[in-house]
Amino acid sequence: MKIADLSPTNEFIPRHIGPTDSDIHEMLKTLGFNSLDQMADKVIPAQIRTTHAYADVGNGISEHGLLNHLKQMVSKNKVYKNYIGMGYHDTITPTVIQRNIFENPVWYTAYTPYQPEISQGRLEALLNFQTMIADLNGMEIANASLLDEGTAAAEAMFMAHSLCKNKANAFVVSPDMHPHVIEVIGTRAEPLGFEMIVMDPAKYDFAKPVFGVFFQYPNTNGTVEDYAAIAKKYKDHGALVTASTDLLAMTLLTPPGEWGADMVVGNSQRFGVPLGFGGPHAGFLATKDAFKRLMPGRLVGVSVDSQGKSALRLALQTREQHIRREKATSNICTAQVLLANMASMYAVYHGPAGLKKIALRVQRLTAILSAGLKKLNLEVGAGHVFDTVTVKTDKAAEIIAQAEKMQMNFRNYGGGKLGVSLNEATTLEDVEQIWAAFNLGKAAGFTALSVDESLADVTLPANLTRSTAYMTHQVFNSHHSETEMLRYIHHLQNKDLTLTHSMIPLGSCTMKLNATTELVPVSWPEISKLHPFAPTAQAVGLIEMIHDLEKKLCDITGFAAVSLQPNAGSQGEYAGLLVIRKYHQSRGQGHRNICLIPSSAHGTNPASAALVNMQVVVVACDDQGNVDVADLKAKAEQHKDNLAALMITYPSTHGVFEEGIVEICKIIHDNGGQVYMDGANMNALVGMCRPGVFGPDVSHMNLHKTFSIPHGGGGPGVGPIGVGAHLAEFLPKHSLVPEAGPANGISATTSAPWGSASILPISWAYITMMGAQGLRKATLVSILSANYIAKKLEAHYPVLYKGKNGLVAHECIVDVREIKKTSGIDVTDVAKRLMDFGFHAPTMSFPVAGTLMIEPTESESKKELDRFIESMVTIRKEIAAVETGKMDKENNALKNAPHTAQMLMKPEWNHPYSREEAVYPVEWLRGNKFWPVVGRVDNAYGDRNLICSCPSIEDYQA
Ligand SMILES: Cc1ncc(COP(=O)(O)O)c(C=O)c1O
Repeated sequence: MKIADLSPTNEFIPRHIGPTDSDIHEMLKTLGFNSLDQMADKVIPAQIRTTHAYADVGNGISEHGLLNHLKQMVSKNKVYKNYIGMGYHDTITPTVIQRNIFENPVWYTAYTPYQPEISQGRLEALLNFQTMIADLNGMEIANASLLDEGTAAAEAMFMAHSLCKNKANAFVVSPDMHPHVIEVIGTRAEPLGFEMIVMDPAKYDFAKPVFGVFFQYPNTNGTVEDYAAIAKKYKDHGALVTASTDLLAMTLLTPPGEWGADMVVGNSQRFGVPLGFGGPHAGFLATKDAFKRLMPGRLVGVSVDSQGKSALRLALQTREQHIRREKATSNICTAQVLLANMASMYAVYHGPAGLKKIALRVQRLTAILSAGLKKLNLEVGAGHVFDTVTVKTDKAAEIIAQAEKMQMNFRNYGGGKLGVSLNEATTLEDVEQIWAAFNLGKAAGFTALSVDESLADVTLPANLTRSTAYMTHQVFNSHHSETEMLRYIHHLQNKDLTLTHSMIPLGSCTMKLNATTELVPVSWPEISKLHPFAPTAQAVGLIEMIHDLEKKLCDITGFAAVSLQPNAGSQGEYAGLLVIRKYHQSRGQGHRNICLIPSSAHGTNPASAALVNMQVVVVACDDQGNVDVADLKAKAEQHKDNLAALMITYPSTHGVFEEGIVEICKIIHDNGGQVYMDGANMNALVGMCRPGVFGPDVSHMNLHKTFSIPHGGGGPGVGPIGVGAHLAEFLPKHSLVPEAGPANGISATTSAPWGSASILPISWAYITMMGAQGLRKATLVSILSANYIAKKLEAHYPVLYKGKNGLVAHECIVDVREIKKTSGIDVTDVAKRLMDFGFHAPTMSFPVAGTLMIEPTESESKKELDRFIESMVTIRKEIAAVETGKMDKENNALKNAPHTAQMLMKPEWNHPYSREEAVYPVEWLRGNKFWPVVGRVDNAYGDRNLICSCPSIEDYQA
């Protein structure tokens, strides 16, 4: 044996792929195949298969090798102290939160809490987030996070337009907003024909009606101004008022809700979430109760369970894009749950008094900084400030250079104006260093302590000073010792079922392994401490990795170029459609605005089309769940003069490799359109087919599905787009960081140049460790596992939709509709009963109502697949007992599911099945039982009695 034979190069492949080779062999046998390739020949249409060598993906490396390689790469980064501000600040992540949430798979591997009975922990953390955001901003209601500050502001713009009664199409944006926020609002206003007027709101004459006005508070220069009178003027003219706030400042300043804001947006990053070169962080949006139905994003509300006990769940889901479809005013789906939970825990840990103390310290340090700069005879900007000082100087370039020499970044506004924004991590020594940088390297000659001693208390005028209490709820006033905090985090996490417990077979979501090695680098300071607007020379290592990831994704997909800017699948769709729109415009075809979308599409598809002002034309599907090619052809030809795009999911949302995909793409191209492929199902393609080669012009890839980024309980995500060569020049750019996109690209669609940059190493690590061979095998095993489940379940449940050889792709749909007719048991009952078996339900009623879509992924072992199959078969037997009348139609283990310990402990047990049958329907549960903490949650009750914040302390006392 040679050393090469013993090298650990491909050791990661069997760590990632659940079934062993002998399991794979057995599973293949069940399906009548001898090899994965033989199976592939029957599943994947020959005309889209590839023999590509994937040279840029490489051959795979070991986990240890990967960490060394990446460490070397990012060691080229320079971790400086960042005083750039612009909504991004250094912060101190409490270690108890870092270790127990940020780096804890129970929090990061969870899915969006659509099944509330097994998600009460993160639902409570999100309710805390909503409460904190609403309280700090003086608003009535807040959602459970948005993607970033810029997109949150754009969402407020859509709301303002919908709410405004004066039919205006223009709105005013203060030039003192952060430039990236203005850019994102502008990007999103333009396709809808909204006119963005960037000017001092106080000077607007209302000659043209406006639907809204936007302020930054404190503004981008750091000054705190009283906007009450201006806000009133706009409201008198029927416009809505939006403020973009700094959460820490809100502990000290009169919150916008008290000076007239209708919507408040922002970024909660500085509440303990690392900078991460721009993200991910949780954006937020708060508003008035009256506007809640127009509020985008997810909303957690309080309801009751089957036992009359208080329980949380996602409220008012009918507002969301997946129901509103082409009438949607927002396309947000995946948001930033993990980061929202970190921010909410930061608030829980510090409490209102702790937050205020942090804010007062930052404010005091800023005052000291300002006084010292004045002592150095520098021209400091006037006005009341919170954390930012600006300086006018004719030595700006030298000062910036000196600061960099001293490993600090200041903000350069241009025109001789510099800015310094302080943060929680800033010390008195740091302030002295800043003075020395402004003094071109010479110490100031006085100490920060001496300035502090001579300085009066910092006060703000009464109209700017917060007088109202916030975060009075018990949760924010209880868990301030580390022991209490640790227990609170674990108390919540114990309520949630995640990948640490069992497989989560959610179709279309690809809940695969999120390997520890992939996750570790996210916490490295070389990545987590980079400011998105620091000089790119300080991020060369990470940027090198980013470009390598782009190259690898191009290699995998066959596209010519990739943009990593979109920070969710929905955002990839949005950016991709804008790219298509710009392409048509560049050819003098800007009138093309028809977007064909199959009826089976995910709700984000029509919502994204609506947001770029395309008109959605729905294409029918045939009985097999495939796109009805005749209908598609007829509609493409009918609209050929105005056809902009087709949006198609491939393999289809029905989990099938449609044979007609090449013909479908040709029909669209022949009629002047472009093909947008929704790449949510890319896990069935990687290493086998390259969409950039078989027809589509654009596709997003969900890195939080196919490429191992964890779902975080509902975000973060990354939705990069790949495009053909003819579209590469139109990919998103960013006006603050030209390197992030092509010169002729569409303007920024997200706040940060590379979106959620700090989690990109996860996907890069996954691809690099797996190598071409590993990725190909992962795809084949994901297809094998889905077919294995379909085969084992088809004797018990009809499997809806199969490809031409009777096989599915990487997911399968089991149909519960007939069962409902024969037994009264519906898809919800099956989903809830699965919880008693310790499983998260498959995707419910998407894409077909009354069905379950199962996606096992390649990471689940055969043993786990068999446990799931056994559970589904046992459930079918329970249904059969209802069908034959052996079991009561209403009072049965399915209708009463899930069963909690409390239900079991009640002295009365009025059910025709035993307590044991309720909670131990199969033997293996006895050794490892997950207990849902609430019974079935009543959705309708919660929507009728909407409560979306924590109970107040008075409620606890009552
Ligand atoms: C088919 C499909 N398209 C689009 C999306 C939206 O992606 P995201 O949630 O990342 O915005 C999803 C999300 O589940 C999906 O399944």
